Amino acid sequence: MTHPYRLIDEAAIPSPALIFFPEIIRRNIAEVIAMAGGPGRLRPHCKTHKTLEIIQMQLAAGVLKHKCATIAEAEMLALADVPEVLIAYPLVGPNLHRFVKLIQKYPRTEFTAIVDQPAMITTLSDVVSANSLSVEVLVDVNVGQDRTGIDISGVGELYRVITRSPGLRPGGLHVYDGHNNMEHHEDREAAVRTLLTPVLVLRAKLERSGMAVPRLVCGGTPTFPIYAKIHDIPGLEISPGTYVLQDFGYGSKYADLSAINPAAVLLTRVISLPTAKRVTLDLGTKAVASDPPAGKRVHLLDFAPHTPVGHNEEHYIVETAHAGRYQPGDVVYALPTHICPTVALHKEALIAENGLIVGSWPIVARDRVLTV
Ligand SMILES: Cc1ncc(COP(=O)(O)O)c(C=O)c1O
Repeated sequence: MTHPYRLIDEAAIPSPALIFFPEIIRRNIAEVIAMAGGPGRLRPHCKTHKTLEIIQMQLAAGVLKHKCATIAEAEMLALADVPEVLIAYPLVGPNLHRFVKLIQKYPRTEFTAIVDQPAMITTLSDVVSANSLSVEVLVDVNVGQDRTGIDISGVGELYRVITRSPGLRPGGLHVYDGHNNMEHHEDREAAVRTLLTPVLVLRAKLERSGMAVPRLVCGGTPTFPIYAKIHDIPGLEISPGTYVLQDFGYGSKYADLSAINPAAVLLTRVISLPTAKRVTLDLGTKAVASDPPAGKRVHLLDFAPHTPVGHNEEHYIVETAHAGRYQPGDVVYALPTHICPTVALHKEALIAENGLIVGSWPIVARDRVLTV
């Protein structure tokens, strides 16, 4: 058996289990810092792992600016004493008040919000100024993903509104391009250059009219290698998330990320051989995310050639001409195609060092609410 994840004590590990390999995590963190040209150019997203321990590893490596999506993730970052936290997700409803509580409870952390609508600026300004606080705000630019953000044509006006709003300070632009997921580096590079041109023109215009645009927070893991090569944009902060654990989806697609290795695996077992060709594993949709579509959710390591044919809550069923090789209880290791939603299915990750499980890390921010 050739893959590097096999554990000496696998017989004692209940399945299905999520297992992290800190040595590989450490290497991924170091590799990305080296590619970026220093930790100060990074603002990693913690949604992939949601664990305090990985945040502490990044802090120890000098990465002080972080990004998150939920208030719980922001609180986890504050609990780790992260100096700068960007909540890159629209704050609406009760989350606005939770945001204020967060700022009040964790004064050592500076929290930044994003906005993409004038009404959002008004509500944020009202709630922040009513509590005598001052908050940095980035305008979320829709650069083509069409998920959140405002079209570049509306960014300037929104930016001006922020500068006039009590309690708010304009901090720059949020430029997430999750749609730039082309396989080839050159294609991603061309797409990034194209999206950056109007963003940089606008930034220069805002600065000429006296407004500071200190930071541009850009990209995820697929476009990280492109932004990493750009050194002539002041205040560029690159915000990949997945790289820290990496997954089969990105790992098998992007040759320019070959120095980044999967640091999280699933340990599963054969639980049934229901037909002459079928093998069923205990790796249902409650252990590995049902994102992407069925048939592509997981890569079984060192497993006979097979076709996935079914995925239920607690069952993963494959067909193989070699079903006869397997027995109930056989241990199989698997790489999830999409690690981020898979991690969120698990309460904890077991920690493997030198071929043995040495402990576990809670997936702290898997909960929607910590204390705030
Ligand atoms: C706003 C934002 N920034 C950064 C990231 C990190 O991207 P990736 O998971 O490709 O590293 C994501 C991922 O969903 C995101 O939504």
